[in-house]
Amino acid sequence: CRPRSCPNWRAARSRRYTSPATSESERTLKRRQETEPGNPGQPRSPDPDGAWQAAWTAVERQAAACRALRIDGLFDSEPERLDRFCVEAAGLWLDLSRNRLPESGLDALLALVDAAGVPAWRDAMFAGHAINGTEGRPALHVALRCPHGRHRDVAGPAVDAGTQPRPDPLTAPLKVGDEDIRAVVRNTLDRMRAFAEAVRDGAWRGATGRPITDIVNVGIGGSHLGPELACGALASLGHPRLRTHFLSNVDPDAWQRLARELDPASTLAIVASKSWRTQETAMNALAVREWLLAGGVPEDGLHRHFVGVTANVAGARAFGLSDDTIFPFGDWVGGRYSLWSAIGLPVMLQIGSGAFDALLAGAHAMDRHFADAPPARNAPILLALVSLWNGLVHPGCTEVIAPYSDALARLPAWLQQLQMESNGKRVDRHGNPVAYDTAPACWGEPGTGAQHSFFQALHQGTRIHPIDFVVPVPDAGLGKAASERPEGGAPLADSGAPSRAATLLANAIAQAEALMRGREPAPGDPLGPHRECPGNRPSNTILLDALTPASLGALLALYEHKTVTLGWLWRIDSFDQWGVELGKTLAARIEPLLADDGAPDAASEGASGVAALSPPSLAL
Ligand code: F6P
Repeated sequence: CRPRSCPNWRAARSRRYTSPATSESERTLKRRQETEPGNPGQPRSPDPDGAWQAAWTAVERQAAACRALRIDGLFDSEPERLDRFCVEAAGLWLDLSRNRLPESGLDALLALVDAAGVPAWRDAMFAGHAINGTEGRPALHVALRCPHGRHRDVAGPAVDAGTQPRPDPLTAPLKVGDEDIRAVVRNTLDRMRAFAEAVRDGAWRGATGRPITDIVNVGIGGSHLGPELACGALASLGHPRLRTHFLSNVDPDAWQRLARELDPASTLAIVASKSWRTQETAMNALAVREWLLAGGVPEDGLHRHFVGVTANVAGARAFGLSDDTIFPFGDWVGGRYSLWSAIGLPVMLQIGSGAFDALLAGAHAMDRHFADAPPARNAPILLALVSLWNGLVHPGCTEVIAPYSDALARLPAWLQQLQMESNGKRVDRHGNPVAYDTAPACWGEPGTGAQHSFFQALHQGTRIHPIDFVVPVPDAGLGKAASERPEGGAPLADSGAPSRAATLLANAIAQAEALMRGREPAPGDPLGPHRECPGNRPSNTILLDALTPASLGALLALYEHKTVTLGWLWRIDSFDQWGVELGKTLAARIEPLLADDGAPDAASEGASGVAALSPPSLAL
C-alpha cells in the first residue's frame, strides 16, 4: 500500500477519528486529590492559604521587570554573585551566574520553593509516598541507587538543626504495600550482577556454545534512551568482546540494517519494556525471534538468547520467558527514570557490575545532596529555578543542551524525554488548567559541532534560547594549551589529544562568554549590523570532573531532580504521561485500514493490539 496511490491510505487519511473516550477509571484517577506530602492520606487543596499564588505572582512580576536587564552589569552590581550562583554538588560544579537573574529574583524564587512545598514533596518522594497522584504510585527511582551493603554511605545519617539524629530518609526501611523495597532492589541487582558477569566471562553462551558477542536492547522511550546514553558515555570502559546495540523504532529498515551486523549464534536480546505492552517493542522482539530461528538457533535454545526486563512479569512469562531470565522492577519506577533499575542491564553488561555500582553511587551522591542541601545551595533546585525564571523572562524560549563531549551525544535525547514527558502538562495536579507555560522544548547536539550549526541563531537570532554547557574536564589533564602551539603550526595538524581537550574546554567557556558579552560593531564598519552580536544571552555551565560512571550518575540524577522540582513548582504531576496514550490508540485503529485488502490483518492486529507482548506460542 503506497501513500497517495493507495486507496486505503486515502481512506485512512480522510476518515475522522473520534478520540477514544477517557475511561471511567481514568476519570476517577484524574479527580483524585494528591496526598499531602509527609502526611499520607490527607487530601490537600491546591493552594489553601494562597501562599503559592502570592509567591508565583511576585516571581512573575520580578521576571517581567528583568527582561531588559544586562547580565554583565549584574557582575558589577552584585559582588556576591558568583558565590550565590555557583554551587558544587556530588563532584559537579555548576555556574548559573550568566542569566538575567538578579539576587533579588533568586530570593523571590526561593520563596516560591517554600510556598510550593518543594522540600516536603522531595521528602515525600524519598519516603515512598504516592506522589504520582493520577496513578496513585510512589516515584522511587532514588531507592534504586541507595547503597546496600556493598557501598558505604560516606555521608552518614542526616542530622537536623537540633543535632538530634533522625532516621536517614535515603536508607531507612522502605515499603510499598507489603513489599520491602530495599530487599527487592538488592535481589534484582544481585541477579543482574551474576548474569552480567556470566555473559562477560563467557560462561553464559548461545545455544550452539558460542560466547555472546552482541547485545541487542529491544525497547523504546525510557526503556532505551537511558541505557543508550550511558553505554555511549562509558564506551571506553566496554568489554572488548561485547558490542551493544539498540533497537527501538518499529521502522523495518532499522532492524534490517542492524541484523546485517549480527550473528544469531552469538547475539543476546534484552527485551526491555516496563509495561510489556508496547507495540514497537513487541514487533521488534518478534522480528528478532524469527531471525534467531531462521539463523539456526533451535527453538529449545532460544532461552540462551533472550532475557526480559519488565514490571509486568506475567506478560514476560506469557511471552515464554522463564523467571530466571526475567529481571523485574517495580511499577513505582517511572520509565524515564528507570536507567537505575534492571533497565540498566545492557550498561552493566558493557561496563561490568563494579562500574555500574559506581554509576549508582554517583547518582546516590546527588540524591544525598538534593535531600540535605538547603534550597539556596541545592544544585537541582537552583537549576530548576533558573529554568523556570528563564521561561518567564524569555517567553516561549526553548532549552538547549550542548554536551562538550561526543560520548554524551545522546544526552539531549534522554533529557528531552525526561523533561518534556515529565512536565509537558497543561493541567495541575487537581486537573485545573495552568496559567503559565510548562516544559519548554529541549534539544541540542554536542559541541563543538553545534557551534558550526545552530549556534548562529543563539548568538544573533531574534529568539533567545538559554543553553546548558555540559563539559567533562578530562582526568588526563588538558596538556599543552592551544596558545602554546608552535608558531605557524598548520591549523589542521594533529596536535595531540591533550591539546585538543584544552581546545574543547576553551570553546565551551568562550561560547558562554560570547553569548553573555556579545560584540559591538567597529565604528564605521559597513557590515557593523551584521557583525554585531547583542550578547546578554543566558547560559549555565556544568563542569564534570572527568566523564566517569560516578560523574555520569551524578549528572543524570541532577537533571532528574531538576525536572521533578520544576513539576512541584508548577504544581503538576511529573510522573504520569496520559498524553502519549492517544497516539498509540489511534495507530492501532488506523493500521488495519492500511493493509492492502483494507481488512484488519490478523498478524498486525495481534502485534499492534497494544495488548500484552505475547505471541500465541513462544516457548523459549
Ligand atoms: O509511550 C511513552 C512510554 O510509555 C514512555 O513513558 C516509556 O518510557 C515508553 O513508552 C516505553 O514503555 P515500556 O517500557 O512500557 O515499553
